[in-house]
Amino acid sequence: MAPSEQESDSILPCHAGIIMDGNGRWAKSRGKSRLEGHKQGAEVARNVVRWAADLGIQQLSLYAFSTENWERPRLEVRGLMSLLAVLLPKTLPEMADNQVRFRILGDISPLPNNVQKAVQQACEATARHTGIEVIICLNYGGQQEIVAAVRDALQWANAQADPQQAMAELTPERFRQMMWRHDIAPLDLLIRTGGEMRISNFHLWDAAYAELYFTDVFWPDFTRHDLQLALDAYASRERRYGRTSEQVCN
Ligand code: IPE
Ligand code: IPE
Ligand code: MG
Repeated sequence: MAPSEQESDSILPCHAGIIMDGNGRWAKSRGKSRLEGHKQGAEVARNVVRWAADLGIQQLSLYAFSTENWERPRLEVRGLMSLLAVLLPKTLPEMADNQVRFRILGDISPLPNNVQKAVQQACEATARHTGIEVIICLNYGGQQEIVAAVRDALQWANAQADPQQAMAELTPERFRQMMWRHDIAPLDLLIRTGGEMRISNFHLWDAAYAELYFTDVFWPDFTRHDLQLALDAYASRERRYGRTSEQVCN
């Protein structure tokens, strides 16, 4: 084990999330089609699950398709969807070897039927696995998730004896119970590849106290070493949650 791996062993994020960005620019820089970039990116996603499982990360969110990605050219959207439908079933044997449990975050109902089926099968086939949880964020938008929770909160309040009072007393903790995947831990580490420094509607609520890590590496070039660099950076951060450094250290 490399020294840097030993160092960050004890301070691993429980939940890491990755905005896997840069597939298109990676492809362009090689004179390839954007879809070839996505194909290579999908291979890296497959690897990163294995690396994260090896390292002992418990939950890994992978941003695969945002609610805004529907705005891309139709051919690209179609290509991304068929990649998912073809590749997800192929990964199942190695997911079993690594005891990976797939979960989905996002509304999959607008996706083509074959993609919905592949996703559901992947979740069902891995549901009893006991290793890393891989949360595939698919047609996911953080704002949409919050709005859905607000609707649930209103419904919940209306079912209480005094709805106004119930809403007035609503806490962030209670509200979080109404989010889509409230049993998943808040994000500890958010990695974005591809050089952009923005969140692009990823895990808005749960990134409240995430440590942010940006790298210029395009996603298809992302290696185990790059993951390790992100984990090392995470391990060196002081998470204060509003307190002072002295309070945190004592
Ligand atoms: C991320 O790579 C993949 C998805 C959004 C599905 P991009 O396709 O956004 O790559 P760039 O940002 O154009 O390089
Ligand atoms: C974010 O990347 C979405 C995914 C990685 C799935 P984008 O490339 O879509 O983000 P923007 O448009 O540059 O903000
Ligand atoms: Mg992009």
